[in-house]
Amino acid sequence: MNYRHAFHAGNFADVVKHVVLARILAYLGRKEAPFRVLDTHAGAGLYDLQGEEAQRTGEWEGGIGSVLQASFTPEVAALLQPWLDVVRAVNVAAADDAALAGTLRRYPGSPLIAQALSRPQDRLIFCETVDGVRDALVESVGRDARAKVLPTDGWQALNAYLPPKERRGLVLIDPPFEQPGEFHRMAEGLADAYRRWSTGIYALWYPIKDVRAVDAFRREIEHAHIPKTLNIQFDLRAVRQMDTMTGCGLVIVNPPFTLVDELRLALGALARVLATDGTGRLRISWLTPER
Ligand SMILES: C[S@@+](CC[C@H](N)C(=O)[O-])C[C@H]1O[C@@H](n2cnc3c(N)ncnc32)[C@H](O)[C@@H]1O
Repeated sequence: MNYRHAFHAGNFADVVKHVVLARILAYLGRKEAPFRVLDTHAGAGLYDLQGEEAQRTGEWEGGIGSVLQASFTPEVAALLQPWLDVVRAVNVAAADDAALAGTLRRYPGSPLIAQALSRPQDRLIFCETVDGVRDALVESVGRDARAKVLPTDGWQALNAYLPPKERRGLVLIDPPFEQPGEFHRMAEGLADAYRRWSTGIYALWYPIKDVRAVDAFRREIEHAHIPKTLNIQFDLRAVRQMDTMTGCGLVIVNPPFTLVDELRLALGALARVLATDGTGRLRISWLTPER
């Protein structure tokens, strides 16, 4: 039980997850009506990329570091902008992104992205069970009447806080995958949550490391008969390596109608930038269609 997201903050998998998160929040923000975000496994909120953990792995250099040094078409840049604006905002002002890449110090986690992309009328719940990580989260969220940082177990939060009274919003489920059975727990958690709240948007992040576990997870989701479920698979490279995360994915329930086209463009461009050996691949497919 020693998962520390600080080792991985800003890596390719965070980039993929946070681009998807930001696109969903941008969509929710189009309507005036308030929305709710429930982040079941929130993490520390802000990560020091020059700190010991991040420096030890250097993972962020092949993630956010590479993104800041790449150039994108205006269309892709516009799609990445809400997320990158949050990255820029937590770092000291730099003349441009290349300069920022050289001095990048901090990387915002999902709670800070949700906080930055929500409005005064929106509400945010962040669950984090590890005391020290939660203390850091409280500090990075700061004084914000819209946000609650709770010690609640993320799986229990799916029962306790759904459906939200706003009746629209996003549930992000991003567990550490450090325990056996986490895939099954996530599929089960989704099915329970969906019974309580079938109109919410759900985003479930998963690592691609153990391909059989991933296949079993997808089958379990398919058999849950939840309509409108999208699968995003982002492979950094085609060749699998034992015990190495070679890709990641997200299952999205009730995706905004804009999401598929947006992600084909944005994640497609990111696959070219982040997959340095040229074998990276993005696959977006429906696990279950609309009813
Ligand atoms: C992958 S990290 C979260 C990263 C974050 N969502 C982001 O994108 O910035 C998973 C976090 O879940 C926390 N955690 C582990 N078990 C939990 C549980 N049962 N309920 C809530 N949080 C938990 C871990 O301490 C860790 O900080």
